[in-house]
Amino acid sequence: MNKFRAIPRKTSTKKLKVCTGPGCRAWESKKVLDLCWRFKKRTNGAEAVQVIPVRCLNKCGGGAVVRLSPSETLLKLREPEEAFGVLNQNC
Ligand code: FES
Repeated sequence: MNKFRAIPRKTSTKKLKVCTGPGCRAWESKKVLDLCWRFKKRTNGAEAVQVIPVRCLNKCGGGAVVRLSPSETLLKLREPEEAFGVLNQNC
């Protein structure tokens, strides 16, 4: 019997997908993405939630669109700083 067992690596199951399509870029989604990455770096939250840039989520308009997984909650951020609230609630 092998005394060394593989220890499963703890990976995050939570994902925050940030749309970087043209409609959301008009709502500063690039800034949302930047703030999310900075927040993660500052809070050492690399394991808590993955921040992923994605193409158009086909929910354009009304704000920068972000989708939380696995709940698949869709949010429209009118101000990039609203991303902090989303991350605080989900990290
Ligand atoms: S450009 Fe973001 S949902 Fe379409």
